[in-house]
Amino acid sequence: MNTPLNFAVMGNPIKHSYSPRLHALFAKQAGLNIHYEKILVPLDGFEIAVKTFFEQGGKGLNITVPFKLQAYELAKANLSPRARLAGSVNTLWMKSGHLHGCNTDGIGMVNDIQRQGISLENKKILLLGAGGAARGVILPLLETGCRQLLIVNRTATKASELVQQCLTDLPQYAGVLSAGGFEQIQGQWDLVINATSSSLQQNALPLPTGLFTNNSLAYDMVYTPENDTPFLQQARQDGATLTSDGLGMLVYQGAESFFIWNQVRINPAPVLEALRQELLAG
Ligand code: ATR
Repeated sequence: MNTPLNFAVMGNPIKHSYSPRLHALFAKQAGLNIHYEKILVPLDGFEIAVKTFFEQGGKGLNITVPFKLQAYELAKANLSPRARLAGSVNTLWMKSGHLHGCNTDGIGMVNDIQRQGISLENKKILLLGAGGAARGVILPLLETGCRQLLIVNRTATKASELVQQCLTDLPQYAGVLSAGGFEQIQGQWDLVINATSSSLQQNALPLPTGLFTNNSLAYDMVYTPENDTPFLQQARQDGATLTSDGLGMLVYQGAESFFIWNQVRINPAPVLEALRQELLAG
């Protein structure tokens, strides 16, 4: 067999990453011979770890907590528009001797929503949170042609600052993008996304009731084996019938990285199904 192409995910901690499993399944589907490993990088050793990886012939890297901002800085000369607006990078590769960076989280989430048969064109979207996770999905959400994207945050000023920053780069979305605090949420929404870390802390959010219609989707970026986070439970109690955790986002962001590195489009759906079964089986 030909020499494998080398990939890795770098983070700290990294033990629980599913990326090697995901990419092994993608590669199997694509008929590619790859080697994908987890690399635990010391907190002060990210730059040298990236340099060494590519000097040794590595083809592509995924970057996770806490290095996404450092990856952005390293690839600053060659960022995709998605990475630039996200302010962070989860995918690195070399081209013509230069390091390039993209952020595939947002397009991964949008693709996961669309594979569920949901179009976001002309829809009302409520995005909860204004940290790195929220920022990473704004541009792909706007690009769906949604009618409204309201970003609310516990600290409302942080949401306003984020929206101001985005509108400086994307003034064409001034009529679509706005910010507020939780107390400003009114009416019904087609899609409500939890990009806060509330589900990780097992906390409920201070949401008003009546947010969901029959066809609204509640989406949590966090995932659990049973597709059941505190936010999704809260949404179901408030009448949401469509609920989705972030496992699909994980799989679909990986598929975008795989495409950037290999120029091969695989079908993520069976990989998502396999990963869900594996998680449920523990
Ligand atoms: P990440 O990179 O995961 O987005 P972050 O940048 O630390 O992490 O952002 C965490 C987000 O979750 C913030 O929007 C935070 O709100 P504040 O800016 O007000 O801190 C939000 N958050 C965390 N815990 C929360 C809770 N219990 N209720 C509501 N929002 C919460």
